Order: sequence, then structure tokens, then C-alpha cells
Amino acid sequence: PGDGEPAERALRAGCQPGDWIVFVGAGDIEAEVERLTESLRAKDKRRGPWQEIAETLRLRLSEGAKVVTEEPLAKKTTLRVGGAARVYVEPASVADLQEVVREVRQRGVSLHLLGRGSNLLIPDAGVEGVVVSLRNPGWETFAVLADGRIRVGAGLRLKNLCGLAAKAGLAGFEFLEGIPGNVGGALRMNAGAMGGWMFDVVERIEVLSLTGTRLEYQREDLHVGYRHCQELQDAVALAAVLKPREVSAAEQVGRQIDVYRTKRQESQPREPSAGCIFKNPAGDSAGRLIDAAGLKGRRVGDAEVSPVHGNFIVNRGRASSADVLQLVREVRAGVKAASGIELEPEVLLYGAKWEDEL
Ligand code: EPU
Repeated sequence: PGDGEPAERALRAGCQPGDWIVFVGAGDIEAEVERLTESLRAKDKRRGPWQEIAETLRLRLSEGAKVVTEEPLAKKTTLRVGGAARVYVEPASVADLQEVVREVRQRGVSLHLLGRGSNLLIPDAGVEGVVVSLRNPGWETFAVLADGRIRVGAGLRLKNLCGLAAKAGLAGFEFLEGIPGNVGGALRMNAGAMGGWMFDVVERIEVLSLTGTRLEYQREDLHVGYRHCQELQDAVALAAVLKPREVSAAEQVGRQIDVYRTKRQESQPREPSAGCIFKNPAGDSAGRLIDAAGLKGRRVGDAEVSPVHGNFIVNRGRASSADVLQLVREVRAGVKAASGIELEPEVLLYGAKWEDEL
């Protein structure tokens, strides 16, 4: 493209990190090459390490893995808002995941786990980090063990766990019906519904630490609480061994699932949402408090406090993450004014801190 400025403009527009540039010329071409490459490197630095991380992972991960940059995340969440992941990875095996963990650690960037995308809010600007999702079918395992317990992979959807256990005549997992998550997410959040909690049925979990070591924990060694599991704050759940409450006729388990489904359909909205947006304060229900404060139906942009259940913010179409955040602030302020209670968000805010946003 010629010397100096025009060459630099053409290179800036057409070059991706990892490309080779061949210079052909005479005279002071060497000085020009030096200047151009320095300027492009500086631009690369400003763009962050993402392209390089993705390239390294593409080389190291198995063929079945997916590694992309700038992957839009909104459609991978149940609320359907938010921007892109700088790097998005679907590892196909534990070895793949270990490579991801190692790379993230070496580069000093953050790792975010994306389950089935419920219970989280992605900022509009996206996620400055590596987002990992266990969507590869290899993570969706379900096996009945010889002793009657079941071993499930972290990527198995709760809906499928519920259905497969019912088919096998194993009771005790019906409460998981309708929670739009996978096993890994349910473990991390100690998901609960209909009076049951994920860790009520867990006997053992297998995890990968952020240093890449595989560990196993027995239920009694875990520190779990309301929507919380300490050992999974900085580790990735790989699998769990679960204990059925009893062996039962498949139809009977199915009937209990239907009861819960009907209850949920009657009391919770169907529009896209992140599930309950606030934690229940001790001894009360956030939904009831929001309702009593007259906040149902309140709107910011396309984000709306569901008229069906006060603790759900639904996306009426084109809500942004900023709309949802603003509505969260307004609902908190409204409940505080009406009842004196300060609600705490239940959903995870990716790449940002609630303290900074509220
Ligand atoms: N209520 C109202 N108005 C409302 C919503 C609820 O008056 O707008 C009243 C209900 O009538 C009921 C009480 O509040 O008397 C509790 O409501 P609900 O049974 O719907 O339960 P919740 O406490 O609001 C919890 C979980 C849900 C779970 C349901 C069903 C939390 C924050 N929420 O909701 O979990 O599905 O129980 O078991 O723990 C989630 O975590 O994302 C979630 C949706």
C-alpha cells in the first residue's frame, strides 16, 4: 500500500492479531518496518490479551472444544440481556478445562462459569474475562450406581436430571423441576425450590480447583448455606453423587413433578427473567415485600417488575442490563422506604460487584 501513513492505515484496518505481515521494499524500509510493528503492537496491547488467549486455547484444547472471541451472551441467559464474552470456551473434557484454568491463571485474567444462564446478570459492556460453559454433551452424564445412588455431570440440566431420575423410579429430586439451570450452577448456588435444596440430595462433589487440581468433597465437609457453597466460590464443579430419598413407582414421581410444575406455573412469570432477583430476607419473602410496597409492574425501559411475582424482573422485549440495574435500585429503595428492609440481590453480576452498582 505504499509508505508511511497510508500503509499504517491499511494495516490497522486489515490486520488481526496472529497475522503475518510481509514487507517488500528498499532504502529505509527497515526503519519503517520497526515503526509500523511497534505501533501495531501498542494497539494490540490496548485491545487486551483476548485474541492471544483464544489462539493458545485453540491449539491446546481437544477438537470437540469451542473457543471464540466476542461471543454474544444475551441469548445464553434466561433474562436475555448483556454483552459479549471477550473469550468464550466450551471445553469438551476435564483435560480441556484444566488447560483453560491454567491459561487463565497464567495470564492473570478472570474466569466466569456460565451454567444454563439463569440467576445472573451480564453487563451491557460484556465480560472482561474468559467465560466457560459446560454445554458439551460430555458433561451431561447421568448414571445409576450399583448402590442406588446417582452420579451426574455438572452440565446435566436439572430438568433432565429430574426426568431421568423419575424414569428410574428414584424419588427426591422432584423439587428441581422447572429450575432453569444445570447441576454445576445448582451446586454453586445451592439452588432451592418447593422447600428442597440442592445440597439436601448431595453426598459428594467432584471439583476442579482454579490451580487445576481435581478434588472431592463429602457433603459433611462442605460449607453450604442459602444460595451459597463456599467450596465452589473459587472452583469448578465437575460432577456430583446424589442420594435418592426412596425408590418409588415412576408414575408416582411423575405426579409429584406435575404438582410442582403447576404450582410454579401459577405463581411465577413465563417471560424471560433471571429467576428471583433478590434473596429472601430471614423469615420473609422478597416477593411479598415488593408486592406490599406497590412495586409490581414498575418499569425501566423494557425491564419490568413482574405483575405475577414481585421478586422477578422480566424482560418485555429489548431490556438492557442498565435498565435491569436501575430497576433493581428502584425496587430496593422502594422496599426500604416501605418496610425498612434492605434486600440483597440473589443473581450474580458478572464482571462487576453489586456493592459498586447499588
Ligand atoms: N408473595 C406475594 N406477592 C408476590 C410474590 C409472593 O404476596 O408477588 C407471597 C406468596 O403469596 C407467598 C410468599 O410470598 O405467601 C412466598 O412466595 P413464593 O411461594 O412464591 O416463594 P418465594 O419465597 O417468593 C422462593 C424462592 C424461589 C422458588 C420458590 C418456590 C427465593 C428468593 N425464592 O420464592 O426461587 O422457586 O420459593 O419454592 O429463595 C430463585 O431462587 O431464583 C427462585 C425463583
